[in-house]
Amino acid sequence: MTNIQRSLTAATVAFIAMLHATRASFDLGWTTKDTESYAIFPAAIPELSELSVCFWMRTTDWDSELVVLSYATPDNDNEIVIYLPGEDKIRFYVAGQYKEAVANVRDGRFHQICMIWRKQLGNWAIYIDASRASAGIGLSSGVTIKDDGVLVIGQEQDELAGDFDYNQAYIGELSDLNVFNRSLTDNEVNVMSRTCYYDGGNVLRWYDVRGGLRGNPKFYSPTACQGFDGEMINRNAAPVRTKSFLASDHYNRNGGAI
Ligand SMILES: *[C@@H]1O[C@H](CO)[C@@H](O)[C@H](O)[C@H]1NC(C)=O
Repeated sequence: MTNIQRSLTAATVAFIAMLHATRASFDLGWTTKDTESYAIFPAAIPELSELSVCFWMRTTDWDSELVVLSYATPDNDNEIVIYLPGEDKIRFYVAGQYKEAVANVRDGRFHQICMIWRKQLGNWAIYIDASRASAGIGLSSGVTIKDDGVLVIGQEQDELAGDFDYNQAYIGELSDLNVFNRSLTDNEVNVMSRTCYYDGGNVLRWYDVRGGLRGNPKFYSPTACQGFDGEMINRNAAPVRTKSFLASDHYNRNGGAI
C-alpha cells in the first residue's frame, strides 16, 4: 500500500469505528427519585397477542417501589407494567393482572430481566440472568393488549401520560430495554444475556429510547457494558461507578437528556 492508501485505510477504519460508537450502547441513570425524568413514547405499542420485554438494570435501592416501564391506555393505566414493589419482588402486569418472581436484583450489579407473555393461555415467564425465575399460565389469558396507549420508561402512569407517582419513580440504571411483539425463546434470552448491545426490539428499540427522553436521566456512553455487538461481555466486570465517577465529565459525556 502507498502511504495515501494506508492513511485512507486508517481513516476508513476510524470512520467505521466512529459509526459503530455512534450506534453503540448507552445506559440511562436515575440518581434521584423525581417525576421529571423519564422517556415517553405515545402510540408506541400496536395491539399485541404476544409480548416480550427485555432489559438490564442495576440499582442499590433495596426497599422503594421501582417502576421500570409503564404502558397505559385510555381504559387501563396498568396495561403493561414492570414493577418492583420492594426488596426481592418483581411484578409483570399485563392488562391489569400481574404475576411475580422473587429474586434479589437490587444488589448493585447489572441483571438481565426478560418478561414474556402470550395471549392464548396467558402463558408468562420472568427470566432473570437468562434463567426462568418464574412462569405459568393464566395471566390475562384471551385478552389482547390494546394499542393507542403511552409507554413511559422510569415512571408509573396513574393516568395516560401523566400523574406520575414520585414514590414509584425508578432509581438506578437501565440499559438495552427492548420490546418485541412476539414471545422470545429461551435461546434468544440466553443470547441476549451474553450480548452487549442487542437493540433488536421490533416494537421499541433501545437505540430509539434516546428520542423520548425528558427531564434529566443521566446518559452514559460508553455503557458499563464495554463490548460491541455480539461480543461476549460481563457488565459486572466493568469498574464499579463511584458517585464522583458518575458525576465526572469523562463518564457523563452528554450531561443528561439529549
Ligand atoms: C410483529 O410486527 C411485525 C412488523 O413489525 C409484523 O410483521 C409481525 O406480523 C408481527 N408479529 C406478531 C406476532 O404480531
